[in-house]
Amino acid sequence: MVTKDSLTNQGSLWGGRFKSGPSPELQIISKSTQFDWRLAPADIAGSKAHADALEKAGVLTSEENKIMQAGFDKMLESFNKSELIPEETDEDLHGALERILIELVGDEIGGKIRAGRSRNDQIATSIRIYLKQEMSEIQSQILLLVSNLVEQAKWAMSGADGKPVIMPGRTHLQHAQPVLLSHHLLAHCWAILRDVDRFQDWKKRDEKSPYGSGALAGQTLGLDQNLVAKELGFTSVEPNSIDATASRDVVYEFSFICASLAINLSRLAEEIILWNTKEFSFVKLDDSYSTGSSIMPQKKNPDIPELTRGKTGRMIGDLTGLLATCKGLPLAYNRDLQEDKEPVFDQIDQLLQILPAMAGLVRTMKFNVQNLQKNAIRGFALATDIAEWLVKKDIPFRNAHEIAGELVKVCEQRAFESGKEYDLYDLSDADFDKMLPVENGHEVRSILSAEGSVSMRENINGTAPGRVQEQIIQIVKKINDFR
Ligand code: ARG
Repeated sequence: MVTKDSLTNQGSLWGGRFKSGPSPELQIISKSTQFDWRLAPADIAGSKAHADALEKAGVLTSEENKIMQAGFDKMLESFNKSELIPEETDEDLHGALERILIELVGDEIGGKIRAGRSRNDQIATSIRIYLKQEMSEIQSQILLLVSNLVEQAKWAMSGADGKPVIMPGRTHLQHAQPVLLSHHLLAHCWAILRDVDRFQDWKKRDEKSPYGSGALAGQTLGLDQNLVAKELGFTSVEPNSIDATASRDVVYEFSFICASLAINLSRLAEEIILWNTKEFSFVKLDDSYSTGSSIMPQKKNPDIPELTRGKTGRMIGDLTGLLATCKGLPLAYNRDLQEDKEPVFDQIDQLLQILPAMAGLVRTMKFNVQNLQKNAIRGFALATDIAEWLVKKDIPFRNAHEIAGELVKVCEQRAFESGKEYDLYDLSDADFDKMLPVENGHEVRSILSAEGSVSMRENINGTAPGRVQEQIIQIVKKINDFR
């Protein structure tokens, strides 16, 4: 007869068919409590719902279920007090929680919880519950950062003595065309908010319950999977038990969104780093969000955006590793899938550091309006305006482009000869009359200003102040909708 003392792997979830217990090497490689323990609240919630299904199926009496539920509540309570700790010998979260349950409610009742489920459907469920909770925390942090960017954008609409602040817009990092600072800041907002959109869309796929799939084929106990799904906040049950336990695309899709978000944050970070250099001097970072140097007394470094940029590398690595783990895995569950957790946990932990830090940095940074405005039209940034002015005088764009280019060439020559900067607005009325193939060429001067340039870009998504104002309204609405 099998007795408790004759078991080969005491206290664990398996052992009956083994002659010997696990070797120390196996125990080390197999153990996951050092990282999966954070899933305990989700796993306990799953077990509570499963116990209800067991009662409904007649496997547990309602008295037994009551005792079981109280045990789980107690476990959750001690987890929240950081008092629920796995044993050195526990293989994983699931085994540890069953062991603790049995300690609390005894063998007779505790030993019934595993009926009709496997760690395979359990883990697939717990990770979905956990990721959804973390997504909601990440989302509120994103919205805080975006709100702070919007506040800066709102300020910038009248930051230049009551008028919108204008800055140099760049392509290839070269001066291109003047744009509103607000327009530029909102560009980052839109990109980041698309990741929130992605999270919302991802949720639809995350909200399907794998519970009741068993190891892969389902179970024979008549467990009400819809009941479990509903109790756990899922919208429905995954339709295929093999897929439900074997797939991890929900996890790597989440991971992709984290990586995408990090990439978007790194672009903002990079610009802040650049704007904070002596050469640009577009922003001044608050002391409380900057660091010093151990040797150079004068230094004030932008470590927050640098770490954001740097951590983006490892977060892309997390995604890449996870994708590679899933590649080529035969159906259904394979232990490889245990490796899905650390990469996403790392991404979550990193994002929950980066997002608040970037939000504070953005909220407290001060723009140097004078430098932004002064540079807005340097580097021949109004050449396109001249070409488009000519188009409106019926000159084909191909010629207009050439003519504006000629003007730039003249300016560059004069700059070279004088050793001083010489831009399009430095050309004389006579120069324009001579070089532009229209009556009164000098009238082009009316559009040769940063204000003129931006205010004419009245197209739907252009940089004209009225249009940018509309964007602010749209983004504020989007933030409120997400909240
Ligand atoms: N720790 C495992 C994981 O994270 C749980 C599932 C284990 N399943 C098994 N058949 N060994 O994937």
